[in-house]
Amino acid sequence: MFRPPELEGDCMFLRASGQMHERMKMSACPDRRTPLRRNLDSAARRTIVRRGQLRRTDVAWFDEFFDEHYLDYWAQILPPERTAREVRFIVEQIAPPEGGAVLDLCCGQARHAVELAKLGYRVTGLDLNEFLLDRAREAAAEAGVDLTLVQGDMREIPFDGQFDAVVNLFTAFGYFEDNAQNQRVLDGVARSLKPGGTFLLDQSNLLRAVCEYQPRVWHKYEDGTMLIENRIFDPHTLRFTTHATYIKPDGGRAERTNAIRCYTCPELRHMLEAAGLGIIAVFGDFDARELSHESKRLIVLSQRG
Ligand SMILES: C[S@@+](CC[C@H](N)C(=O)[O-])C[C@H]1O[C@@H](n2cnc3c(N)ncnc32)[C@H](O)[C@@H]1O
Repeated sequence: MFRPPELEGDCMFLRASGQMHERMKMSACPDRRTPLRRNLDSAARRTIVRRGQLRRTDVAWFDEFFDEHYLDYWAQILPPERTAREVRFIVEQIAPPEGGAVLDLCCGQARHAVELAKLGYRVTGLDLNEFLLDRAREAAAEAGVDLTLVQGDMREIPFDGQFDAVVNLFTAFGYFEDNAQNQRVLDGVARSLKPGGTFLLDQSNLLRAVCEYQPRVWHKYEDGTMLIENRIFDPHTLRFTTHATYIKPDGGRAERTNAIRCYTCPELRHMLEAAGLGIIAVFGDFDARELSHESKRLIVLSQRG
């Protein structure tokens, strides 16, 4: 999914395409980094009221982030041409056997899964979010394709040796604060693949994100909604935390926070190998260009031995 908004087109945390947004820097914004950091650190935890008692919970940003609001403001700027381009690349690079079994891990509203199913693959989509899975069911019905859609956590992939290919697209990795949890995702991917099966991981390119990092930006959507983003990049953990405030023309407000650990290529190599997956190719975008520090994406193709 996401890349930082300062990158045109698709973005890691909040995508701001040239057509969709006007972008302006908040150069006059007072420096609130320290209190903001405190707020963001606690934003991953929520205080909820249960039976009259206040209780701290471990509700994470990704439990709440991918709702109708996500579809309204993020998914709308994933035009069908972009999905088609990504699917073409997936098929060319992975080349699953005709009619092969593909797992779209963190499938969201199934924009890739539906297109892959149209090409004759037997596609399973796994996602945590029931709201997006419902949208996926609708999309499959509309396209007249069969998808197997499973609600579940990417750390608990419930499959064993059954897929020719697994894809994880649009920065749906690095969601857990603890590296061991992110490693668990890769372990599950490897387990779910047939021997020789391939895994395509698409995430934001950390190097570019860091080069273009801006702690504060704002955007104006075409419908007049203002988006103000405060972001923190933590060089100790390589995590980007983004707090977004949307102010609608009628004065309505919405706030969203996400926090993603971006991995470098050598880190991913290490983690994939620990899971039993060997890297066979690395790309900087869905046009198969070479990875550089300027690449928008970091796309890693690996294979189970
Ligand atoms: C950025 S979206 C990408 C969706 C889709 N791959 C795409 O390209 O449009 C990330 C997806 O990961 C899902 N997700 C977040 N946390 C998850 C978890 N712990 N386990 C499974 N899915 C999760 C979200 O519900 C969302 O659909």
